[in-house]
Amino acid sequence: MANIGRMLVVGAGQMGGGIAQVAAQSGLEVWLQDISEALVEKGVERIRANLDRQVEKGRMTADQRQGVLDRIHPVVRLEDGAQVDIVVEAATENLTIKKGIFETLDRLCPPGAILASNTSSLPITELAAVTKRPEQVIGMHFMNPVPVMKLVEVIRGLATRDDVFAAVKELAEQMGKVPVEVNDYPGFVANRILLPMINEAIYCVYEGVAAPEDVDTVMKLGANHPMGPLQLADFIGLDTCLAILEVLHEGLGDPKYRPCPLLRKYVNAGWLGKKSGRGFYRYD
Ligand code: CAA
Repeated sequence: MANIGRMLVVGAGQMGGGIAQVAAQSGLEVWLQDISEALVEKGVERIRANLDRQVEKGRMTADQRQGVLDRIHPVVRLEDGAQVDIVVEAATENLTIKKGIFETLDRLCPPGAILASNTSSLPITELAAVTKRPEQVIGMHFMNPVPVMKLVEVIRGLATRDDVFAAVKELAEQMGKVPVEVNDYPGFVANRILLPMINEAIYCVYEGVAAPEDVDTVMKLGANHPMGPLQLADFIGLDTCLAILEVLHEGLGDPKYRPCPLLRKYVNAGWLGKKSGRGFYRYD
């Protein structure tokens, strides 16, 4: 495959912004797209603040920071950023929305372009099936916060070609990440393991086994996790946690993945974790 030098990132939220930043830091030209100018600008602002911190810490010069920002091109219309070698889609975790985006990208992007999704659990093979290039569709699942976490799950859809897989693996390495090959099954590996743990922590609260702070302390001090599972759930977003559990529950059909009713209640109440100001903890 030709060298990957130009990337479109669809979605300028927490994940999309992080992916765009790391790609631009590794020398790629990056187009960052979201559905309104305000959302793209917010994404770029977050990147700018992250880079400022790197400069303050002496890890990057002001010139390097400017170079990274100059390589990021904010766009609102997909067609303005579609002439690229690879797209990494990091839009909202909704299969219908993502299918629509993949259909559009398939129409707009050059025939050789790879279409990757950062989905945390939705089926790559189903996204591939709405395009005329299923062999060039792949999963590229980054972890949050993207600039810090080393892992990328590279997910092969049913039809993904070997040279496409190899190119994406190499790109992940170029971005300073460690790629791991994963096949396309619900939740892949990271979330198939992480989410049942988070769900079990929520059941501990629901059944009155322990208070949220105590559940988290047990896992931080007893299992050396950097964050307790409930703090992590707030950080991921409780709506995202619920969506991933639904995918595991429905896709694997095992009651062990049944989302805890307390999680559902919080999501229905609009308590979505850090981003909404309240989840298992308050963020004022
Ligand atoms: N963006 C960029 N850098 C960040 C950051 C962010 N959002 N948050 C923290 N950092 C950086 C800090 O700048 C700091 O950098 P230096 O060491 O270079 O100074 C470093 O990370 C450590 O930060 P802090 O000292 O402030 O805090 P910490 O030691 O608690 O680390 C953490 C923060 C890295 C997030 C850590 O708590 C952690 O590892 N948490 C667990 C993260 C995790 O499990 N992520 C996976 C989530 S699941 C997922 O992503 C998959 C999915 O599909 C749902």
